Amino acid sequence: MTDRITQTTALEGHGHGTLPVWKRTPEPDAGVDASVHARLEFSDAAKERLAWLRTRYPDGYQRALVLPVLSMAQREFGWVSPQVIAFVADAIPVPRMWVEEVATFYTMYNKRPIGRHHLQVCTNVCCAVVGGEQLLEYVCRKLGVHPGETTADGRFTVIGAECLGACGYAPMMQVNDDYHENLRSRAQVDALLERLAAEPDRVGTDPHLALGPGTGPGRMLPRNGPALKAGGNVHTPEGGH
Ligand code: FES
Repeated sequence: MTDRITQTTALEGHGHGTLPVWKRTPEPDAGVDASVHARLEFSDAAKERLAWLRTRYPDGYQRALVLPVLSMAQREFGWVSPQVIAFVADAIPVPRMWVEEVATFYTMYNKRPIGRHHLQVCTNVCCAVVGGEQLLEYVCRKLGVHPGETTADGRFTVIGAECLGACGYAPMMQVNDDYHENLRSRAQVDALLERLAAEPDRVGTDPHLALGPGTGPGRMLPRNGPALKAGGNVHTPEGGH
């Protein structure tokens, strides 16, 4: 399931004019082919990492493995499908629900396929006051997508993100594992997008996989993954721009 965000009502704000009310409605993941994850196996590097992780926690505390193993699985398989959730639960092992509840709570786990470059534009307060929302709009317009969509060539997925912890360097955007900060001019954004678009495809096992999130180079195409389809919406604001 994914969510559709719709504006449903308008409330009178106290001295602040009319305030929109947004409603989050689950809707089926039509068009997402989760069968691509029918046969799953960790790479040797991931198996080694899992064995090492096990040594970090005493028996009876396997639940603590859910976050790191899910992160590893996302790097290996590209996104967290129901099959990946089941695979992770079996690999630890823990009940499937324990993995499901973590995967659906944290936004860093992608429940749909994403493009090779995952652009997360912060639109929270500090970024918003110095152009974060305009930055998101510009990136979307430049790539011809709405927030939450993937470009037709599968290269870019763009989303608006909540605070990413770089408030002092606003406005900013996270591209896979990397932060790009002080994005105050269109020329900076243009140069960044052009550089990302020109990067050659890399498919295979990421040698930095074992280091965990935040330390590797840009995300690679999933080792066992399918070609990405265009239009992988996550959130589609009604009547979008
Ligand atoms: S508000 Fe944008 S990084 Fe904190």
